[in-house]
Amino acid sequence: MHCVQPVAPQIFWVGGNDRRLERFENMFPLPNGVAYNSYLIVDEKTALVDTVDAAISALFLENVVHVLQGRSLDYLVINHMEPDHCANIEELVRRYPDVKIVGNKKTFQFIEQFYTLDKRENYLEVSERDEISLGRHVLKFFFAPMVHWPEVMFTYEQQEKILFSADAFGSFGALSGNLFSDQTDFESAYLEEFRRYYANIVGKYGIQVQAVLKKVAGLEIRMICPLHGPVWRRDLPYVLDKYDRWSKYEPEKKGVVLLYASMYGNTENVMNIIANKLAIKGISDMRMYDVSKTHPSYIIADVWKYSHLVIGSPTYNMGLYYVMEALLREMAGLKLQNRKVALIGNYTWSSMAVRVMRNLIEEMENMEIIGMPFTIKSSMKVEQEAELDKLVDDIYVSVTV
Ligand code: FEO
Repeated sequence: MHCVQPVAPQIFWVGGNDRRLERFENMFPLPNGVAYNSYLIVDEKTALVDTVDAAISALFLENVVHVLQGRSLDYLVINHMEPDHCANIEELVRRYPDVKIVGNKKTFQFIEQFYTLDKRENYLEVSERDEISLGRHVLKFFFAPMVHWPEVMFTYEQQEKILFSADAFGSFGALSGNLFSDQTDFESAYLEEFRRYYANIVGKYGIQVQAVLKKVAGLEIRMICPLHGPVWRRDLPYVLDKYDRWSKYEPEKKGVVLLYASMYGNTENVMNIIANKLAIKGISDMRMYDVSKTHPSYIIADVWKYSHLVIGSPTYNMGLYYVMEALLREMAGLKLQNRKVALIGNYTWSSMAVRVMRNLIEEMENMEIIGMPFTIKSSMKVEQEAELDKLVDDIYVSVTV
């Protein structure tokens, strides 16, 4: 049976949830599931804003049929051509053969790459700031290239002042009935997953996020409807501030994330000693991760949040321990910037970890190495404690200035 919710007068959420999917994009764990949002506007003309993933097609199509109440679909707006939102385009065109598919040049290029639609007569190509009137409701299109794909558009509905924002402002985590963020305890239920989604999916594209934030800054926005996670109708300055800060690569908080690789516990031992010494000095809310244990998307989310990183790793095969190298390359790939980093190395017969880590960190913009990297030979010795204390002091001063 259908499962829909009103979003605003004549506008309905017709999406759904998937709590069975193990990994988003077959990469990111989904312990809390994921929502695929789609929105249907029923005016003199009808318009569907994006579709959903193939996993929930049956419910989605039932939702659309229910809300349309026997009417046809006039427009299908494609804000984003990634298949988690596009799996139902072909079926909708089969059911509503006159539907106008609204997109830009790239949208149609990608439709033809992913599908065999052969319905070019249905294409309605729009340009930046073009408008489509549905009756009371008027859609206006703002291109958001590379947030996080090149064809991405935001659709602004002028009557209700709703911004349909594609993946931007989206979150991992299925919806538990409460569609609106203000109906949830957002900070405990979604914030971590909201940040993990941003850092890992959109994080690379800070410049492009800044550009589109400026583009829509002059609009009166009463509601933001993303393609994943809760809808925003209150606390818009809160969510816009998060996006502004994240896309400028500014930490949300002064604090320390310790991340380490450790084969036999000796590098881990140093990390625990550092964390204890920092805690005794008064540093609170530290986070520590074993990179071989925790999925990198969680570590990267906290790296986005905090200002300081302590990174420790053994040398491996005369290079850097592979898991740590992969994580640092992922951070560089996501264009992480503006963090302060202390380095801890370990080796038995070839000291390479610190050198490789330093090189990888220096590939990122505006990263500062704090103090002297600290290196152990196989295990830490008591006589090295004074040297480690100096590095701990340097980290402490850097965090607390
Ligand atoms: Fe939710 Fe970029 O797809």
